[in-house]
Amino acid sequence: MEYRIAKHEDINQLIPLGLMAYGEYFPLLNEENKSLMETNLQKSELYENMMKIGKGFVAEFEGKIIGMGFLIYSGNPTNIYPGNWSYIRMIGINPHFKGMGIASKITDLCIEEAIIKNEQTIGLHTSEMMPAARHIYEKKGFVISKELEPIFGKKYWLYSLNLN
Ligand SMILES: CC(C)(COP(=O)(O)OP(=O)(O)OC[C@H]1O[C@@H](n2cnc3c(N)ncnc32)[C@H](O)[C@@H]1OP(=O)(O)O)[C@@H](O)C(=O)NCCC(=O)NCCS
Repeated sequence: MEYRIAKHEDINQLIPLGLMAYGEYFPLLNEENKSLMETNLQKSELYENMMKIGKGFVAEFEGKIIGMGFLIYSGNPTNIYPGNWSYIRMIGINPHFKGMGIASKITDLCIEEAIIKNEQTIGLHTSEMMPAARHIYEKKGFVISKELEPIFGKKYWLYSLNLN
């Protein structure tokens, strides 16, 4: 298994990886939210933009990308994240490679990158649908900062890790 920084040329593999990983949640969503999530995951701009405003990490096995995650640097506020927070986005693992510690390793790479860049806080948002992911983040010290307005009709929380 090799871990490396994501490149623009990876996007054609990241889109199917995202669909495969997050596709696990499609059966839990109503039709409208399912197609919303599916449409978002198919946008190459999503990945292009995350690489522009942050850094992506991928796990590669036998030349194929099987895991990803992105750290977005502070200075890129959204309706969820304040401008002085960095944040982790789009952790996704090929379901055939689950439970091997890949998401945990990619989360660590994001945290290391935030420390290198002298970030003060790392945020992320995750939901009631994602207990495995919440377990990983809580083990690394992320704590719930607040409950968010529902996304895709599901309960979501904003988590944060203070790096000071
Ligand atoms: C959730 C996901 C990221 C986990 O990836 P992974 O590489 O299998 O995770 P890891 O192997 O690094 O870690 C798994 C940890 O979660 C635990 N875990 C696995 N399934 C679990 C579950 N259903 N409930 C609670 N904990 C669970 C494992 O025991 C392990 O914990 P440990 O370190 O204490 O042993 C992956 O399944 C995925 O891509 N899911 C779809 C997309 C997603 O939810 N992304 C996160 C969005 S915030």
